[in-house]
Amino acid sequence: MQSVTVLAPSNIALVKYWGKKEGQRPWNPSVSFTLSSSCTQTELRWEPGLFGLSFWFEAAPKPAFLPKLEQFFDRLAALVPEIREHRFEIRSQNSFPHSSGIASSASAFAALGLGLSAFRARLDPVNHPIDVHQASSWARLGSGSAARSIEGPVVLWGETEHCVGSNSEYGVRVEDVHPVFKNYRDTILLIETGSKSVSSTHGHALMNGHAFGPARVEMAHRNTADLLRILATGDVEGFVDLVESEALVLHALMMSSVPGYLLMRPNTLAAIEQVRAFRRDTGVPLCFTLDAGANVHLLYPEDFEQTVHEFVTSTLSSLCAKGAYLCDALGTGAKILNTNGLIPA
Ligand code: DP6
Repeated sequence: MQSVTVLAPSNIALVKYWGKKEGQRPWNPSVSFTLSSSCTQTELRWEPGLFGLSFWFEAAPKPAFLPKLEQFFDRLAALVPEIREHRFEIRSQNSFPHSSGIASSASAFAALGLGLSAFRARLDPVNHPIDVHQASSWARLGSGSAARSIEGPVVLWGETEHCVGSNSEYGVRVEDVHPVFKNYRDTILLIETGSKSVSSTHGHALMNGHAFGPARVEMAHRNTADLLRILATGDVEGFVDLVESEALVLHALMMSSVPGYLLMRPNTLAAIEQVRAFRRDTGVPLCFTLDAGANVHLLYPEDFEQTVHEFVTSTLSSLCAKGAYLCDALGTGAKILNTNGLIPA
């Protein structure tokens, strides 16, 4: 069997992707920080033969994940027919604890998107070299947010007139980023572990016919334009306001869906209030964001790492399940670990 091993990070959205169209294309543009420590490592092996798929997660067979993987391979086979003429084995592991509630679909499908771009390159290196935009668009077919995990440290996905080259097929790197934002930290408070009560995929579907849908799309375009200016100019204060507003709007959209639902927990709100009080009292530009769950991501410049760490250990960790939190920082995206004769991207 031939193989390739890929390491792909998770990402945290600043402007959120919420709502999707046909072909896993987003309703609105989104912008994210690519992380560096929260990763999935995947070994993809293949041999010619009748199409087949087997999957191991953390060294154990995981048939429960097969339907989602089969759907992904099926979507991709429409673009890459050679997939149907191979049998694949996938072995994956995450760097973060299994039940931490961290969205693993972004890192998992980014690893597969790049791994399959390498598979394609191995079959025909001259006409199909590994390509990061192709890997991103393939990753998107597994999970929308995975399109933003191939590159880093800042990625925009979704067409918007506010960014030349932006499109809904794949993520593009945001080039104009002030140094203060290039080494931001993300400390992830694990408020609730285990699987979420409502999946993101279901949440996206609830945006169809949502009363606030059109206003949300307009807001996301405006926030994307504002965030690009904030990132370029190093406007840390503007960043705090915009990023916190996006997080709360995401959860407001969930609460006002039909049926509505709540993913924040009492300790999510307690952490938010503590973060705001800390910022008021110290002037440290620490802000929070949320993904589609109860966990709280704390974003701040590297210079405040020590101060924020003390605040986390003294105050916020008591709000976390078993006191647990993860320390992460911005990263550069997915990597092929064993190139094995491949032409690197
Ligand atoms: C709230 O990418 O997990 O994290 O495309 O259905 O796999 P699917 O959804 P997913 O949605 C992520 C939603 C979010 C916001 C974001 O990451 O932009």
